[in-house]
Amino acid sequence: MAKGREHFGSGAAAVMAMAGSAIGLGNIWRFPYMVGQNGGAAFIIVYLLAAFFLSLPILLSESIVGRATHANTFGAMEKLAPGTRWKWLGFLTVISPLIILSYYSVVGGWSIEYLIKAAGSGFNEEVSSLFGEFIVKPWAPLICHTLFLLLTVAVVSAGVKSGIERFNRVSLPLLFILIVVIMVYSLTLPGAYAGVSYLLKPDFSKITPSVVAAAMGQSFFSLSLGVGTILTYSSYMKHSENLFSSGLGTAAFDLLFALIAGFAIMPAVFAAGIEPGAGPGLIFETLPYIFANMGAAAPWLSRTVSILFFLTIVIAALTSSISMCEVGVAYLVEERGQSRRKASLLVFAGTWLLGALCSLSFGPLSGVHLFGRTIFDFCDHLTSDYLMTFGSLLFVLFVGWKMPRMTVWNEFTNGGSLPGNRRLFGPVWFLIRYVAPLVILTIFVTNLVS
Ligand code: PFF
Repeated sequence: MAKGREHFGSGAAAVMAMAGSAIGLGNIWRFPYMVGQNGGAAFIIVYLLAAFFLSLPILLSESIVGRATHANTFGAMEKLAPGTRWKWLGFLTVISPLIILSYYSVVGGWSIEYLIKAAGSGFNEEVSSLFGEFIVKPWAPLICHTLFLLLTVAVVSAGVKSGIERFNRVSLPLLFILIVVIMVYSLTLPGAYAGVSYLLKPDFSKITPSVVAAAMGQSFFSLSLGVGTILTYSSYMKHSENLFSSGLGTAAFDLLFALIAGFAIMPAVFAAGIEPGAGPGLIFETLPYIFANMGAAAPWLSRTVSILFFLTIVIAALTSSISMCEVGVAYLVEERGQSRRKASLLVFAGTWLLGALCSLSFGPLSGVHLFGRTIFDFCDHLTSDYLMTFGSLLFVLFVGWKMPRMTVWNEFTNGGSLPGNRRLFGPVWFLIRYVAPLVILTIFVTNLVS
């Protein structure tokens, strides 16, 4: 391990950090909506298969590279394949999370605004026009974006142990408590059952190849794959930790949270007699009104739930944005010799600027288009449809075909000392080397064609 390099205090701390990265906006607004639109329980089955047979091997590949090198994404490639073109993978995975961080923190900023509103004046029927009016403003969203990024950077600059580990140790359990409270409230609303059956009724006729590709894409996004966050967090894991159980724990927490979020959101949507809409609109237009106004018997309770709901979104978004920020900071500290403080400021400056353009692309810059998309949409599309998939493909190719099999085996089994992992190595190796590259390539082509 590099001298003076920090590491997580325990395996549990590493799982909490990785699960914190995984659990985010993707679980709260995208997953429930996708389940409902794409065949309910049938989609959940496809998603489960994708998570454990495709995403988990990719996650393990990143973990193996990170823990084997104890380095940032760029340094990891230089250590394992010095002087080769693989350095571009290291570079790509420094850039991709920073692009995601830029637009993600715009949405994080909206959540802060809504949290403040929920706690202040609350929401009324005008809430749906409120969203449209808010995001086109030049200043207010920009201020919230700045605030969200400052919170992110503040945690990261405090260090791996006293910043990231500490924040996740508190946040992750809190997130689960909050989402369970919201779910219980939501399930007790009159008419909630329709939402439950919307999520659970299996409709296999909806499972088409493009739905399968969408399930896989969602799984990549949800587990933060292919952009170096898992690599970087794994590089802070000690050699004694079990990579497989940490990866499995991360995937399981992420899935559990997505499912609970589904049962927190859809019953409320149906109880209010609203058709579930797509995208951020659901959490920023529909749900605030529902949560603030549904409980006729106890208005204070529904009001409290609306506050808790936005608190959940802000915290979930922060645990993810922190992981993206750390990738850039680790690179600047280890490869460019910056102090952690200075590195954090540099990441702040760069992502603030791109994020500001993303934020303004809903208002003053809405006429600026890149390849037919606004700046925000372009950054989102580029990263979630291409860079994450491409990065994931390169990681499995690297681990499956470039790294010596013995090195991979050593990392996976801790030098042969974990009997369970010794038995699992064969199947996992097969998934990494053959199955994952072929499947990812197929998704990549599907995305390109469509
Ligand atoms: N996994 C996060 C979510 O579901 O919201 C998003 C994300 C985090 C993507 C970190 C990429 C990343 F590097």
